[in-house]
Amino acid sequence: MGIILDRLFPGAGDDGNEVAELESGHRVEPLPSEEMEQQNQHWKGYPYGLVRLTPGRWVFPKNYKYFADRLYRFQPRKTDVFIMTYPKCGTTWTQEIIWTMRNNPDLSHPQANDFIFLRSPFLDMDMLLHKPKGLPPLNDPLLTGFLKLCPFKNPFNGLMLQMSEAIRDPRTIKTHLPFSLLSPALLDTAKVVYVARNPKDVIISYHHHCRINTMHSYVGSFEDFVQYFVDDNLVYGAYWLHVKEAWEKRHHPNLHIVFFEDLKAKPTEELQKLNTFLETKLTDEQLENIAQYTSFNEMKARMKASGFSEENSDIFNKDIVQKDGGFFRKGESGDWKGKLTPELEAKVNKWIEDNMNSLGIEFKYSI
Ligand code: A3P
Repeated sequence: MGIILDRLFPGAGDDGNEVAELESGHRVEPLPSEEMEQQNQHWKGYPYGLVRLTPGRWVFPKNYKYFADRLYRFQPRKTDVFIMTYPKCGTTWTQEIIWTMRNNPDLSHPQANDFIFLRSPFLDMDMLLHKPKGLPPLNDPLLTGFLKLCPFKNPFNGLMLQMSEAIRDPRTIKTHLPFSLLSPALLDTAKVVYVARNPKDVIISYHHHCRINTMHSYVGSFEDFVQYFVDDNLVYGAYWLHVKEAWEKRHHPNLHIVFFEDLKAKPTEELQKLNTFLETKLTDEQLENIAQYTSFNEMKARMKASGFSEENSDIFNKDIVQKDGGFFRKGESGDWKGKLTPELEAKVNKWIEDNMNSLGIEFKYSI
């Protein structure tokens, strides 16, 4: 069975260690063996290892190599909206807001309770689905949704990538990839909403995510996790470079930048700005209703009501979910306070100072 799966899914298995050039102009190579040994002690979710891209120090599971050129070639359409973020910046929240504004303004859409990635795909998720060999279990909503939408396609060639190609317009697509790894035509063709979040809260949220999510299975210490973060050694790599690539394009008419902290503090105001940017022409009442519908508590309750159980999904470590919470953890700004020791806070402050000032970006409320 293993041999058949390896043949169907060329990105899996132990081959492909060689250095390669990508169409994006990046060079991709496996992490050096000493680094990989340390990673293997702290992470149990990367069975085929990790690769690093230069320039940029982006880090990905090895399967990225198999999808990289296809992700770069992924054709944006005029009616697309991409939601782009570094992990844990509030992608799912913004994705639900935007999908709802565009497809469900009166909160009456019959598919509104379908699993979000079936309505609004996560473009680059396939590289993370490496257990077992690139596919979720047969009863997983992603796989059943794929088989319905793409009945004649091979799921091993990318569940989410092929679903992103196949879903009907207008598409609302989530990505954690930075601009430099996506089509150069993206911003001149489609609209992009970039979500940025205070990096201290990103650390707390990403650490939790990597512990509960078996696609990462982080078993190291919190101190080591912070070090991985400031060294750009986590999957999706360099936080500041990710933000920088978007921030530099902030005056482009097809780019709208949202701060998690603003969305949390004044959601209706931020939805009004999105309404203008997306040209959705919703009324104040519709926007108020959507802000309420996409609030933390309502989204969390809907996930439970949809029958998706983090306690029983093999994507989540149910013991940690029960103890420390699931995907909808806190949804707050400034939750990092009291969670970083003075030494860690000093380290992160220095790293923020070194990077943020040169960028001219400001995170409000809680730095
Ligand atoms: P916390 O771990 O701080 O709670 P992403 O979707 O990019 O993975 O981001 C996940 C973070 O966004 C998590 O942060 C999650 O709780 C938060 N989040 C998700 N939905 C939210 C909502 N409706 N309102 C506020 N925060 C939300």
